[in-house]
Amino acid sequence: MKKILLVGGAGYVGTVLAEELLVRGYAVRILDRLYYGRQGLRDIKDRIELVVDDMRTFSPRVLENLDAVINVGGLSNDPTAEYNPTANYEMNTLATQRLAEMCKGQGIRRFIFASTCSIYDRGVSDGDIDIVQDEESEVSPQAAYSSSKYKAERILLDMADDDFCPIILRKGTVFGFSPRMRYDLVVNTFVKYALTEGRLTLHYGGEMWRPLINVRDAARAYITCLQAEETAMRGQIFNISQGNYRISELALRVQAALREVGVEVEIYPDYGYRGVRSYRVSTRKIEHMLGFRPVVTVEESVKELVHKIREYGYTDFDNPRYYNIHWMKLLEEAQVITQVTGSVFEAPSTLAVSEVVK
Ligand SMILES: NC(=O)c1ccc[n+]([C@@H]2O[C@H](COP(=O)([O-])OP(=O)(O)OC[C@H]3O[C@@H](n4cnc5c(N)ncnc54)[C@H](O)[C@@H]3O)[C@@H](O)[C@H]2O)c1
Repeated sequence: MKKILLVGGAGYVGTVLAEELLVRGYAVRILDRLYYGRQGLRDIKDRIELVVDDMRTFSPRVLENLDAVINVGGLSNDPTAEYNPTANYEMNTLATQRLAEMCKGQGIRRFIFASTCSIYDRGVSDGDIDIVQDEESEVSPQAAYSSSKYKAERILLDMADDDFCPIILRKGTVFGFSPRMRYDLVVNTFVKYALTEGRLTLHYGGEMWRPLINVRDAARAYITCLQAEETAMRGQIFNISQGNYRISELALRVQAALREVGVEVEIYPDYGYRGVRSYRVSTRKIEHMLGFRPVVTVEESVKELVHKIREYGYTDFDNPRYYNIHWMKLLEEAQVITQVTGSVFEAPSTLAVSEVVK
């Protein structure tokens, strides 16, 4: 049985990917700091090995007896990366480099890295907003998040040789249900607003483009890359997306899908806000080289989301746990307070009380 290490395997993509690997007969080890808790692992916890540690400092023993490593860990969006650019660079670039060097040193040949299509962002003020970009397009990402991913990509590609096969997957924005749910991703955000407020607001009139991919399709893409013949895969970059959508079109699709499950929603454009990302990508390369095509549509996914959110009870939409930046800020704030209080509800020990009194 082949054993795969999923770094960040307790996350939104990682938990779904772990399930898909287990179904296909892989053994799965997860290395995760568990920033968002264990909730996402509840259905698979008895079938995985879990190492709770930081991807920047873990022990080399974590890499023992592995066939491949998939890195879906680190800070995973713009707001968290901008909030702490140093931690972002450490996790997304330096930790990826360290992990890859350790893999290479231990003879683990295949290394798949979660990059992002936001590397292609041109913004809405660029006259070439409608250009479709592929893996050969020249890019110069400026944002903390996308540039940290791009730097990691460069490092990995430089390491490719006969003994080491790094593969880069530049994912579009992911949507759909995951046991570790996120409502800070555009389709999921729309469903959340539809269910809570009955209205969707389109920033910048929804004119920006975004490539999108369902989370199960994203997981299938990783597995396709895991299984493909090594020589052809070494040092390859692949865009993965089910399609490019203008956000205004996306809202109409979400509205129509929700109507089918009895949820009515109104759409309001807001032209005030301009700090938006916009990019379109080509997915021809992964289709041609690996025959990979996403199969889950936005509409199907939206309907499933409504059903699964209710089934799993993820209807506490205000819970900051579903929004990476809110959760990270809250954890930081809690850390400052619990440094003084110790445990939240347990009575402090005598020593701790006297320390507080002093
Ligand atoms: N979700 C998307 O739309 C999307 C799009 C493109 C690329 N990506 C990339 O795909 C990957 C997975 O995204 P996601 O949505 O699952 O993100 P996520 O935030 O849900 O999951 C990231 C996981 O990494 C863990 N982690 C973070 N820092 C860590 C550290 N220092 N040590 C150990 N574990 C750590 C977290 O605890 C979490 O479980 C990320 O690399 C992200 O940048 C995501």
